[in-house]
Amino acid sequence: MIKQASTSRVSVNAQSLRRNARRGVSLALGLAAVSAIAACVAQQQAPKPSATEVAASVTPDQVQGIVHMCSSCHGITGVSVSPTFPRLAGQQEAYLEAQLKAFRDHTRADPHAHTYMWGMAQHLSDPMIAGLATYFSSQKPAAPTPGDPQLVAAGGKLFMEGNADKGIPICQSCHGDHALGMDTIPRLASQHHDYLVEQLKNFASNARNNQIMHENAKTLDNDQIEQLATYLAAQP
Ligand code: HEC
Ligand code: HEC
Repeated sequence: MIKQASTSRVSVNAQSLRRNARRGVSLALGLAAVSAIAACVAQQQAPKPSATEVAASVTPDQVQGIVHMCSSCHGITGVSVSPTFPRLAGQQEAYLEAQLKAFRDHTRADPHAHTYMWGMAQHLSDPMIAGLATYFSSQKPAAPTPGDPQLVAAGGKLFMEGNADKGIPICQSCHGDHALGMDTIPRLASQHHDYLVEQLKNFASNARNNQIMHENAKTLDNDQIEQLATYLAAQP
């Protein structure tokens, strides 16, 4: 968290310095240093800029250039075909932004995150990450994948009601009635079955380090994971 906040401060400072330069203010080196310190102090007191404010400094063309690179795995509109690659279309904007920053600073460190996404996220600036999150979150979500009706029914019951005896929480209480997520809580509806299974196991083993989801996933057995993933993949 601290690291993310300071990264965005640095980029904002760079922006405000560029703005000064554009205004044609000619600054001696000493003055520039003073103004950088002043900007830094001001920035520490100012609230963090919103995703939309940050995204405003990259052009749609620049975002599309990067989307093209992402599309080889995630599809041009974020509807990937292979279950190794999660669907990004219609995913929560704040969640996408947080995950890209977590790949960039290596706090999301499960094996596929490391293999596929660390390199991809390494050179993305905060404004570009915000632009990509805005783009993918506004794409039409994938169509649901129908599954075995018994598994879907059992998974739906677990998702909506949990299982107090077995220490399984009510997933719906955070992910929402229709598994659409909110803010930094991800949409799960119409995600790939295999990807969901993989992530629940990653959370349980702490390969993907997230305290909230570790608590939620650690008591799930393989049958329950299968039921939940089948149910979620089948939701519109
Ligand atoms: C070479 C294939 C590949 C490319 C190219 C790629 N990704 Fe990924 N991406 C993956 C894989 C695999 C995962 C799943 C990682 C895991 O299992 O933890 C992933 C995960 C993600 C996630 C997390 C989704 C979630 O539901 O948690 C986001 C966000 C993401 N990628 C965005 C991007 C963006 C933006 C780009 C382009 C800059 C990109 N990816 C390029 C393979 C790729
Ligand atoms: C207390 C709130 C809460 C509850 C309850 C909860 N989740 Fe989550 N879930 C989260 C948050 C927050 C994240 C994002 C974690 C991160 O940032 O890595 C998440 C992430 C996930 C992901 C990863 C999705 C992706 O795209 O990578 C899956 C799968 C998931 N949850 C399934 C479940 C299931 C199934 C249950 C019920 C057994 C459940 N969650 C209960 C808050 C919750």
